[in-house]
Amino acid sequence: MNEREQELKNKIDPENIPHHVAIIMDGNGRWAAEKGLPRHEGHRQGVETVRSTVRNSSDLGIGILTLFAFSTENWQRPVREVNYLMSLPEKYFQTELPELMRNNVRVRLIGDSKRLPRKVQKAVNDGAEKTKNNTGMVLNFALNYGSRAEILMAVNKMIEDAASGRLKGKINENIFSSYLYTAGLPDPDLLIRTSGEQRISNFLLWQLAYSELWFTDVYWPDFSMFHLLVAVDGYQQRKRRFGKI
Ligand code: FPP
Repeated sequence: MNEREQELKNKIDPENIPHHVAIIMDGNGRWAAEKGLPRHEGHRQGVETVRSTVRNSSDLGIGILTLFAFSTENWQRPVREVNYLMSLPEKYFQTELPELMRNNVRVRLIGDSKRLPRKVQKAVNDGAEKTKNNTGMVLNFALNYGSRAEILMAVNKMIEDAASGRLKGKINENIFSSYLYTAGLPDPDLLIRTSGEQRISNFLLWQLAYSELWFTDVYWPDFSMFHLLVAVDGYQQRKRRFGKI
């Protein structure tokens, strides 16, 4: 940690670290374009930022980190770019698993995994299986994730379960949440989106109901411990009222 980061870290209340942080990792393409590089170089550097952000989040005491890595809409990108993005989880786990184990991180996948290429499913499922007994930070990779699709999946599953008698009576918020990919996890306290865009983009629509939103102009490949600390500091200055006064 450099001096600037240490100074910010000292300012932060260790008792009020956001437990669940979700991140929309945006701006890889623009980062590359500004450097005259092909878009995939931005994604390659984006993976390096995933590595450092996982380590930094775990060091800060964040309990759950949810990363939006590939949306249901991202299939509409050029095939070469989709293929490149689909090659990343395998590479990531090949090199990162020892570090995830050392840091006691537990990996999970959220999204419609059945539509992902086999090798991606295998890479993430193996990562999840090998880290399943870790008790530190939970790292959720959102892959082929879309929030409206998730909500519809949940509704259809509830209809099925009601028809078969497994689900009885009225649906309440807890029951509904238990049908989502994020079942069992508390909602995000803080959502960060990089690259200056200020949209939710079909990410965790139900789960973000009371989250604090933090937007930064920094492109994802440049997102560092400093920017994470700035976001956490900003979060700590918010008054969360959950509809009360
Ligand atoms: C958005 O930038 C980024 C993505 C669509 C992909 C995000 C993926 C990673 C950072 C790597 C994921 C890593 C693993 C291990 C799965 P963009 O391409 O939309 O950028 P732009 O808006 O500037 O074009």
